[in-house]
Amino acid sequence: MNRIILTGASRGIGYETVLALAADPRRRILALSRNFQRLGALQQEARRLHPDTQVFIAEVDLARPLPPSFADLVEQTLGGADVLIHNAGLLLNKPFLELERTEWEQLFQANLFGAAELSRRLFPFFQRNAQSHIVHIGSMGGIQGSGKFPGLSAYSASKAALACLAECLAEEWKDAGIAVNCLALGAVQTEMLEQAFPGYQAPVSSSDMGAFVADFALNGWRFFNGKILPASLSTP
Ligand SMILES: NC(=O)c1ccc[n+]([C@@H]2O[C@H](COP(=O)([O-])OP(=O)(O)OC[C@H]3O[C@@H](n4cnc5c(N)ncnc54)[C@H](OP(=O)(O)O)[C@@H]3O)[C@@H](O)[C@H]2O)c1
Repeated sequence: MNRIILTGASRGIGYETVLALAADPRRRILALSRNFQRLGALQQEARRLHPDTQVFIAEVDLARPLPPSFADLVEQTLGGADVLIHNAGLLLNKPFLELERTEWEQLFQANLFGAAELSRRLFPFFQRNAQSHIVHIGSMGGIQGSGKFPGLSAYSASKAALACLAECLAEEWKDAGIAVNCLALGAVQTEMLEQAFPGYQAPVSSSDMGAFVADFALNGWRFFNGKILPASLSTP
């Protein structure tokens, strides 16, 4: 479980997850986002904390088709892939009646279609391993029966779909040794939360959640497959 790909690494939970994973120099980590400058800062910080670290970075916009060369990039940097963490997410806080179709499309592109394409494109790598783990970072708002928040209909619906996709892929890929789980997060103090709910103070820091996500990605497959697990002290 030493070759790890993570989306949404430029800030928040993804950034902290990479720093937690980077503590072990045997791990090779490919950190993705649209912001190469911020990824460069992450790489520098990982090297400052752990001089032997192996963090690679690449600019990827999940709202667009992946370039054909993506598999080559994975082969060249990691030499394969054992763990994929779909952490990237886009949130829009807007009343349902004001949401344009293009905004629904943007959210689903970033939160669902990009993740689905990435998993499909990485399947040949996972198939080579005895065991792999794909982790979807969902939201409490995307769980059936949870308390919902006004303004988050498109975001929550996209996260519900991402959670369901984890259950579906776990079933389709169980014989290939690929475990797929979804962590449905509650509130975590990040820029996303601050922008969506200014002034709200979350009970969990991004570094604590990043450490938890890192540990779950490395070890959760031993205990869970096809599960949607709330990781929440509160909602959203
Ligand atoms: N914070 C919370 O309270 C909370 C609660 C429940 C669930 N979550 C989920 O946890 C995950 C991380 O959240 P966060 O709070 O750390 O969010 P954040 O600070 O807003 O970070 C989101 C990350 O997603 C990336 N991203 C967004 N759109 C992208 C696209 N089209 N292509 C590639 N990357 C894209 C961003 O990178 P670039 O902008 O650099 O591309 C950024 O690195 C998200 O999936 C979020 O939905 C968060």
